[in-house]
Amino acid sequence: MADLFEPLSLGGTVSLNNRIVMAPMTRTRTSEGDVPNALMATYYGQRASAGLIVTEAVDVAPSSKGYAWTPGIYSEAQRRNWRLVTDEIHRKGGAVFMQLWHVGRMAHPSIMPNGEMPWGVTEQRAEHSDVFVHDANGKLGYIRAGTPRRLATNEVSALVRTFAQVFVDARETGFDGVELHAANGYLFEQFMNPVLNTRKDRYGGGSLQDRTRFLMEVVDAAVHELGPGRVGVRLSPFGLFNSMPADPDVEGTLLYLAEELGRRGVAYLHLIYELMPTGNMETAEFKARYIDHGLLAKVRATFPGAIIWCGGFKSREGAEAALETGLVDLIAFGRPYIGNPDLAERLRHGWPLVEADRSTYYTRRGPLGFTDFSSFGGSQAAVL
Ligand SMILES: Cc1cc2nc3c(=O)[nH]c(=O)nc-3n(C[C@H](O)[C@H](O)[C@H](O)COP(=O)(O)O)c2cc1C
Repeated sequence: MADLFEPLSLGGTVSLNNRIVMAPMTRTRTSEGDVPNALMATYYGQRASAGLIVTEAVDVAPSSKGYAWTPGIYSEAQRRNWRLVTDEIHRKGGAVFMQLWHVGRMAHPSIMPNGEMPWGVTEQRAEHSDVFVHDANGKLGYIRAGTPRRLATNEVSALVRTFAQVFVDARETGFDGVELHAANGYLFEQFMNPVLNTRKDRYGGGSLQDRTRFLMEVVDAAVHELGPGRVGVRLSPFGLFNSMPADPDVEGTLLYLAEELGRRGVAYLHLIYELMPTGNMETAEFKARYIDHGLLAKVRATFPGAIIWCGGFKSREGAEAALETGLVDLIAFGRPYIGNPDLAERLRHGWPLVEADRSTYYTRRGPLGFTDFSSFGGSQAAVL
């Protein structure tokens, strides 16, 4: 019988206490300058009994930002304060990978450096999708993504070098590894998508090899700096979030990625197996869209590293049933981690879960809906 509490050595490098992953979640609680802070260290530390924490998406440069108040790792203050987070998680015995993203076209001039246009694989705008920024009156809210500027070939290569520096910084600030956010319609996925990427240079054109080149060059840089056991990649093969056109050869793309990432020794693939409709995350309904077991079995046969499944898990039974298929190694929980800092213990003991209020997902109200959820009760835990 599969056991959610069996330890795992990730990539032969990072020891995980159990098979539970805290999924990456943007929470917009940074301090001025998009700097992580002590409150965030408390939040992550409270959740350190997960086998692995993947942080909220972190901006690799000011141009990678599409949402107000997401943290970065490009300033001295940001790097200094990430130490608060990694130290706190490690003090509690947990492990943490930093999720890194560039949002590409999912931005707006109002949040870009010097009001420039968002960076795009082409000039094609995300017609039906919003970004989370301050409006003209300074009020935080959702506005339609701006029209992007097509990146020149040498700018894409320069961005690979930006990522390479960030990998060094992630290691030096104490992260156990990095996860590249190649899901949910952000820049990596914008490049990989055959409908959206109509470029004619080495990062586009008709071939899968060209469309995935940007991701693979970044993966190569990550493996070079950190070693393959400390690199994971998140993918959402069937996702249409952020106005992504459906990939007509989704299976071919997924298997190609599994093969290429496997060849590079990447520690894990983090698969989101649900379809998220267009719209913003606060109103999005997460409808299940399962990658069928036949396809997953092919991924499993192709990719030698660990596979994380994320989306809709709420119980130990559900998670262990997924592990029992033998097709995945780790189960990620997103929303359940918002209201249940001690999710691992709750699952272990069958204790009830708290449902968090969606209106606190992204706010500037500090601890409210962030660090103010208590554990199921230390005294109860002691007597049981
Ligand atoms: C508030 C919130 C913020 C999120 N932020 C991110 C993010 O920064 N990076 C990412 O890859 N996914 C993000 N997601 C998606 C989650 O990682 C996860 O895939 C999704 O919530 C489905 O899992 P669940 O059913 O366990 O919640 C976010 C989801 C929520 C609810």
